[in-house]
Amino acid sequence: VLDIRKLYAQADVFTYDPGFTSTASCDSTITFIDGAKGELLHRGYPIDQLASKSHYLEVCFLLLYGYLPSAAVLEKFETTITRHTMIHEQMHYFFRGFRRDAHPMATMVGVVGAMSAFYHDSTDIADEMQREIATHRLIAKMPTIAAMAYKYSVGQPFVYPRNDLSYAANFLNMCFAVPAEEYHVDPIVARAMDRIFTLHADHEQNASTSTVRLASSSGANPFACIAAGIACLWGPAHGGANQACLEMLKQIGTPDRIPEYIARAKDKDDPFRLMGFGHRVYKNFDPRATVMKQSADEVLDLLGIEDNPTLQVAKELERQALEDPYFHDKKLFPNVDFYSGIILEAIGFPTSMFTPIFAVSRTVGWVSQWKEMIADPQNKIGRPRQLYLGETERDYVDIENR
Ligand code: ACO
Repeated sequence: VLDIRKLYAQADVFTYDPGFTSTASCDSTITFIDGAKGELLHRGYPIDQLASKSHYLEVCFLLLYGYLPSAAVLEKFETTITRHTMIHEQMHYFFRGFRRDAHPMATMVGVVGAMSAFYHDSTDIADEMQREIATHRLIAKMPTIAAMAYKYSVGQPFVYPRNDLSYAANFLNMCFAVPAEEYHVDPIVARAMDRIFTLHADHEQNASTSTVRLASSSGANPFACIAAGIACLWGPAHGGANQACLEMLKQIGTPDRIPEYIARAKDKDDPFRLMGFGHRVYKNFDPRATVMKQSADEVLDLLGIEDNPTLQVAKELERQALEDPYFHDKKLFPNVDFYSGIILEAIGFPTSMFTPIFAVSRTVGWVSQWKEMIADPQNKIGRPRQLYLGETERDYVDIENR
């Protein structure tokens, strides 16, 4: 591996690969995707097994440290994360500086970036201990920040984290508890929330993770780099697709309107795409979408929500699209975002919170990849080349002669 790296560094030729469709930017031992088979492994463990047998904080440990922890080690890790869930009291002022109608992702980009102004003891990336604290702080505080962004947007008082609750239950409590009103987290809802976190935990070199890696390759502090990842995730071609997908399903409204939307998605003169469909790497089913679809059925059933019209439209849209040669030939299948919004809506979240929830989940992927990269002695600053297609050299023309 080292020799290949040196060889490339010295080469005076370069590859031209817009969108990095076939260029590896790094080597990694964290996540493996076989797009043709529709396989996703974290440290070797299949995502469907992790989604059904494990839980989010255990998956966090696995991604960060590479092995499944013993019960005692896991308990210690969970306690560490729980102890970091509060944010600095001064940070409350940041939220209050935003407009109430700001998108929670906009608020999160700002507040997470601002963490570097508060946690000076975890910004020295040369210090392994500081790096460790930064990863713990980010995993622990991200739900608090997302929940506060939500509470601020709906004009309710902030709810402080509770150490007696699980990671998912604490997040739900911070979002939905209201002072002076009884609120108990439904264990079914907490389990569904945890599964959504787990399914989004990492996905190798996607756009936001690559952004985090590129930003940190300059030696920037971890909070600034994660803020860059959040900004990238927001786009509708990436994490913003979950919000866009549910909005699209609602817009379709009834199964009889599906053919109209499928026709629009196929029309090359229409920019419309089926949101939650297609993936750069998966040319087969996204295994996360398979689990998410089952989970949507289970959660709605357990919550007693019968005949959910959005789920019916989603299933029928999937069926019709998969029978259509356009989607079949281009290998376009539902991705993780296709069914997640239906579960999140059933839990009670507005669509504007879907992408912030993705950001909470993906934080562990970002920090695991960041940690791996910083610890690599061969780490180099990311500096893509370009194919210049502009003017050749020419003489400056004085303004009176133009
Ligand atoms: N609906 C209709 N046509 C599509 C769709 C779609 N959702 N996705 C891709 N296509 C078509 C493109 O028009 C293109 O057709 P062409 O070959 O005739 O030009 C072909 O399929 C290939 O598409 P590209 O955009 O080149 O594929 P790319 O790998 O660059 O994009 C992406 C992948 C961004 C996910 C794309 O499929 C898309 O925009 N999907 C909708 C948004 C979405 O769901 N994003 C979430 C991705 S998963 C995640 O980030 C969690």
